[in-house]
Amino acid sequence: MAKTKTTFFCQNCGTQSAKWQGQCTSCKQWNTIAEEVIQKAEKASWDISQTNTSATIRASKPQKVSEISTNAEARINTQNKELNRVLGGGLVPGSLTLLGGEPGIGKSTLMLQIALQLPYKTLYVSGEESAQQIKMRAQRIHPNSEHCYVLTETKTQHIFRNIVQMQPDIVVIDSIQTLHTDHIESSPGSISQIRETTTELIKFAKETATPVILIGHITKDGNIAGPKILEHMVDTVLQFEGDRNHIYRILRANKNRFGSTSEIGIYEMQGSGLREVSNPSEILLSKNEEELSGTAIASTLEGMRPLLIEIQALVSTAVYGTPQRSATGYNAKRLNMILAVLEKRAGFKLGAKDVFLNITGGISVDDPAIDLAVVAAVLSSNVDITIDKTMCFAAEIGLAGEVRPVNRIEQRILEAEKLGFESIVISKYCKLPKQTYGIQIIKLGKVHDVVKHLFA
Ligand code: TYD
Ligand code: MG
Repeated sequence: MAKTKTTFFCQNCGTQSAKWQGQCTSCKQWNTIAEEVIQKAEKASWDISQTNTSATIRASKPQKVSEISTNAEARINTQNKELNRVLGGGLVPGSLTLLGGEPGIGKSTLMLQIALQLPYKTLYVSGEESAQQIKMRAQRIHPNSEHCYVLTETKTQHIFRNIVQMQPDIVVIDSIQTLHTDHIESSPGSISQIRETTTELIKFAKETATPVILIGHITKDGNIAGPKILEHMVDTVLQFEGDRNHIYRILRANKNRFGSTSEIGIYEMQGSGLREVSNPSEILLSKNEEELSGTAIASTLEGMRPLLIEIQALVSTAVYGTPQRSATGYNAKRLNMILAVLEKRAGFKLGAKDVFLNITGGISVDDPAIDLAVVAAVLSSNVDITIDKTMCFAAEIGLAGEVRPVNRIEQRILEAEKLGFESIVISKYCKLPKQTYGIQIIKLGKVHDVVKHLFA
């Protein structure tokens, strides 16, 4: 029996220290240091000498860069266009991908769906659900798959034993926080367990060129639970987000060693799993035939993808002394700023009005290019005059009330054109590469001009 050894770990950033202290020296958080029992065995569980599969494991030697064969970069098509796009073309052999997201957002559903669709031998390891639960879920998604195997196990040594026997092409772990290794005695989900089990999985992935996908829980403030180094250790960090009460989900890459981080994937949660949404604008715009005041369409970019979204505002007389401001899907501080600009530059007495703002579809947008649509929606609701349904907006609003240009304006214009809009309002300072488009371009310079153009 090896000697029991304990160390202190910061539960926030994973820094190790020899003694307990009130504040972490690295991330400066208070009361995050906790004692964990660690007990190192001589060998890591993914060790060549413990298994008899050395034939399947590539022992690495120094190689000339020019001699490294490029088919190691060949991607595995996940049969899911949105996921492929976010990954930069597909899964890379031997890579570790971490998928984070809030509870109930659909991480397990997405990964099980991928595992069921793949024409390769996949092992779905679950430490969270029973085999029956997974079967029930699988029946909803994709009833018959001959390649997907399910293992309910949390001990890495047992998982590796099964992997050695089964030789899967892809491994999914649901979730990293439930795994534990024999070599460390602290409880599953603790910093040292997560670090150790991830190290074992990385070693396995790199040596056998098997891609491994880890599902990870996130903390209250949206970070992946566990040590920050977890994100450094893996090759790709994906984030699955969306409002649980709405059906749309966005998959984005926060880190990607094999592709860009600016691509997003959009899914719709249905009774039979997640459906890929290849033309998001069409579903985000309501097909309302009636003329409604207080709605405006913005041409925005989510990552590299142009997206048309609908912004709704409701302006009403404030009943109580302090007017209410509420924004869903949009930064509330930015809304206040825009209202202040309108008050000062467009002569609207919004101080005595309640303002509610909502981006339909339950998505949230950071792109400043939707400012102008926010202005249009607020003004439209205030004067109760509808905005032409064939018009959309793409510009930022500055503090001086100026209509500012935004990046990649041409992409936004072309998306609006593609979706059949007849006009788009942009900043007059935008430099456009082409002179003519199939859509009318309205160039404005000040908020005041916007008021005149829309409601005069
Ligand atoms: P789940 O994948 O369990 O979330 P996570 O692993 O991120 O915690 O998602 C569960 C939710 O998805 C649950 O509330 C029900 C819903 N759901 C559907 O709407 N349709 C489906 O086909 C499935 C499998 C789940
Ligand atoms: Mg789950």
